[in-house]
Amino acid sequence: MSLLERFERYPLTFGPTPIEPLPRLSASLGGRVQIYAKRDDCNSGLAMGGNKLRKLEYIVPDAIAQGADTLVSIGGVQSNHTRMVAATAAKIGMKCVVVQEAWVPHHDAVYDRVGNILMTRLMGADSRLVDAGFDIGLRESWDEAIRSVEDAGGKPYPIPAGASVHKYGALGYVGFAEEVVEQEKALGFAFDFIVVCVVTGSTQAGMIVGFAPEGRADRVIGIDASATPDRTRAQVRRIVDHTADLLGFGRAVRDDEIVINPDYAYPAYGVPSDETNAAIRLAARTEAMITDPVYEGKSMQGMIDLVRQGSFPDGSRILYVHLGGAPAINGYVGYYKDG
Ligand SMILES: Cc1ncc(COP(=O)(O)O)c(C=O)c1O
Repeated sequence: MSLLERFERYPLTFGPTPIEPLPRLSASLGGRVQIYAKRDDCNSGLAMGGNKLRKLEYIVPDAIAQGADTLVSIGGVQSNHTRMVAATAAKIGMKCVVVQEAWVPHHDAVYDRVGNILMTRLMGADSRLVDAGFDIGLRESWDEAIRSVEDAGGKPYPIPAGASVHKYGALGYVGFAEEVVEQEKALGFAFDFIVVCVVTGSTQAGMIVGFAPEGRADRVIGIDASATPDRTRAQVRRIVDHTADLLGFGRAVRDDEIVINPDYAYPAYGVPSDETNAAIRLAARTEAMITDPVYEGKSMQGMIDLVRQGSFPDGSRILYVHLGGAPAINGYVGYYKDG
């Protein structure tokens, strides 16, 4: 029985996402492990999709029930999350205000004109650029955006960064874990490890709660891309506890069930290292799988490095979770214009 049965879900995605083998990537890393991808980057027809839509499916019913007319949210200039909030608002017929802060020390001339922010504007969102640094917490600029909607007579519905610190923010990825368990039955095997990028926390937190009943939460390897891993870990811990409570889970999730590797976020949030770019190129050239320099490129880098180090026993089946984010590469032409 699904843990989510009593929660309302507003469909924004196509349904279960495919799991596909990545044989050329696996072979290029020596062939001792088998790598698969869970394609949450292909989960919807809404503005190229991605992980936020699974989260927003459980948040939208609350926004509608509260009589809101404007979704308000926050992220970086090339935020995937604000693109997904703008898409959701357009799809459900609400207005949208998004605050886009200067989270990334990156100065490509087209950074604030292409990719995510271009699509966000195209979908009619009021995108407000603000000069403030990276922080996964709550922000003053966000409060101001909410007030501005109220002052104009609107009814705002606030959605925090990454839709993470929201009472229903992690439910979508509890559902993801249940979906993987069902797909494993059809495949005839269970994955030994699941690799996922973590920044604002509710994606991994939901997976941890979803896999905990099977005793597999510690097989979810979070690769930190925030470069503030202590804050990210504390946020994952809080979201796990809140979500377990909400679902009436019956036991506390232990600290050792929360696994986050901080080694690949360097040099900064939103800035790829040479190793990140090598990983992005390898995934693209072996599997035509496009990953971005902010999120999935770092989790790809982490997975590749852990495979090369022999951290996964021979014969392991590893599920790389692709959470989306490819539109951001348009803001990084300086790195990739020659491939
Ligand atoms: C493409 C992509 N991957 C990974 C993440 C990380 O997910 P979370 O913020 O839920 O930890 C995000 C959002 O922050 C994202 O947009």
